[in-house]
Amino acid sequence: MSAQLIDGKALSQQLLLQIKQEVSALTAQGQAAPCLAVVLVGEDPASQVYVRNKLLQCEAAGIVSIERKMDASTSQAELLQVIDELNQDASVHGILVQLPLPAQIDPQAVINAIDASKDVDGFHPHNMGLLLAGSDEAFIPCTPLGCLLMLKHLELDLAGKHVVVVGRSNIVGKPAALLALQQHCTVTMVHSRSNDIEVLCRQADILIVAVGRPEMVNADWVKPGAVVLDVGINRIERDGKFKLVGDVDFASVAPIASAITPVPGGVGPMTIACLLRNTLQAYQQQNGE
Ligand code: GUN
Repeated sequence: MSAQLIDGKALSQQLLLQIKQEVSALTAQGQAAPCLAVVLVGEDPASQVYVRNKLLQCEAAGIVSIERKMDASTSQAELLQVIDELNQDASVHGILVQLPLPAQIDPQAVINAIDASKDVDGFHPHNMGLLLAGSDEAFIPCTPLGCLLMLKHLELDLAGKHVVVVGRSNIVGKPAALLALQQHCTVTMVHSRSNDIEVLCRQADILIVAVGRPEMVNADWVKPGAVVLDVGINRIERDGKFKLVGDVDFASVAPIASAITPVPGGVGPMTIACLLRNTLQAYQQQNGE
């Protein structure tokens, strides 16, 4: 057996095209385009790349973007001031503060300060609560939403499937588990303190891995025929060259899985497409559509 490759790039292009068409229908009617504000504090190289890609995709979809770059020494009060301005600005529909933030800033205080109706990351406690309650008004965090859309694309009957989520972050693991539960899956969450992690992973019909450890999951952890979604993006040096690898050892797992996401070109592009989708959702909700 060799796994079907889940082409996140192609799927994200389809989603971006749909968003672009919806945005151009709005502007053709004389309405303002949706607007996303992205705040980047400091010079973390990976964050700079992510933010650049988000802004480029906004432009391609016809979504207006505002980039607020702030110095690495920015105080929490200064950042909260910028968020307050963006909250007040009716022309801004979505606000994203790129994480991680410098050590002097408490990320939860910043997330809590974003107007929940503009929280396109879905990290605000209000949106996390809505997700927990199963409300369709919630902003769903972009990476787990991308994972769900990829699973739906496979046209599996998700009900009753055993989903094992590796990693318990607020950004990926926890919301991914809640989304799977909403799809009537049986859900197990494993993390760094779990016992028998490999045994648990091997029970998964669908394995979602989001831990940030290069190639941690190998073929011994995977049931033959399982679907594997690899959320990790790790930059490693091998044979004197830098390369991006996931949290899954693709070479060993692809031959036994039924479907697998590559890194790069899997979950990553879907995350950005879902951010634009959430921005359009914010625009529609703010305009009572
Ligand atoms: N850093 C890594 N992933 C994300 C994300 O999805 N949103 C934000 N704001 N920062 C991140």
